[in-house]
Amino acid sequence: MHPIVPPFPVTRLRRMRRSAALRDLAQEHRLSVKDLIWPIFITDVPGADVEVPSMPGVVRRTLDGAVRAAEEAAELGIPAICLFPFTDPSLKTETCDEAWNPDNLSNRVIRAIKARVPEVAIMTDIALDPYNSNGHDGLVRDGVILNDETVECLVKMAMAQADAGADILGPSDMMDGRIGAIRTAVEAAGHRDVTIMSYAAKYASAFYGPFRDAVGASGALKGDKKTYQMNPGNTDEALRLIARDLSDGADMVMVKPGMPYLDICFRVKDSFGVPTYAYQVSGEYAMLMGAANNGWVNGEAVMLESLLAFRRAGCDGVLTYFAPRVARLLKD
Ligand code: PBG
Repeated sequence: MHPIVPPFPVTRLRRMRRSAALRDLAQEHRLSVKDLIWPIFITDVPGADVEVPSMPGVVRRTLDGAVRAAEEAAELGIPAICLFPFTDPSLKTETCDEAWNPDNLSNRVIRAIKARVPEVAIMTDIALDPYNSNGHDGLVRDGVILNDETVECLVKMAMAQADAGADILGPSDMMDGRIGAIRTAVEAAGHRDVTIMSYAAKYASAFYGPFRDAVGASGALKGDKKTYQMNPGNTDEALRLIARDLSDGADMVMVKPGMPYLDICFRVKDSFGVPTYAYQVSGEYAMLMGAANNGWVNGEAVMLESLLAFRRAGCDGVLTYFAPRVARLLKD
């Protein structure tokens, strides 16, 4: 669509920018509270909620704190929250059994929230890293990440989460074949309506650093995740991953990280027209907060502008640590 633009002065594009009213009328994309998914960190460590040092304003919450966050999401109109557990190091093993324990922290929190605030959708994270003593998303043997053996674990993990009442299963591990295996298993178990948001185009990114601090995986991780997460130099591969995960049974797809990968968001939405989400990850949050807290940028303004950019790029929604703050702003 390239309409012919008559020359100046017939066309004066500034006419539509003259007042707030005209700018509002001409605005093509908008950010709404309904576009937000709020990632929260949960912990079994008793006591007050503790701030994550590299993520100012973000805390690890106990079960009660997580329920309060869900209540806050409901009050603010945020449709979904996403849970990430900080696992007690004594529960981390090479076999990762805690990942599919029906009573692990995540599953207890899912049940508690569903009992109290059922209207808030709960998204989970499916990957072994919170439970793995070597910090990887998959099982490791002789330094190699095992694909098919890991998928079997991920299916057990997904089943436990679906049984606990999760609304959106979020496989973030990047193993091949996991979406199909999870879809088949949950369908067979009668969880016909549980949705899957595939972290389909997830890059091996340095922007995940603060997250790994938040879930206590930084010290544990041996090596890097480049044999399963994507090479930041690739675009076409993202489309192949999305196509594969959609045909395997994903209802929604995600691009991660967000801001440095808006070209991928655009191409995904443009090519497939499916529910598309971006994850504005921990390092993006830390970067904006760091600059804002130093007075180098206007924090509120960059937050809103960065989130609007996801909508412009074609995303239907965004996972962002700014969710409650931006929801409060959008409410006023
Ligand atoms: C774990 C997972 C990660 C994130 C979400 N799920 C980290 C990783 O892959 O190492 C990162 C989120 C963020 O940085 O905010 N599979």
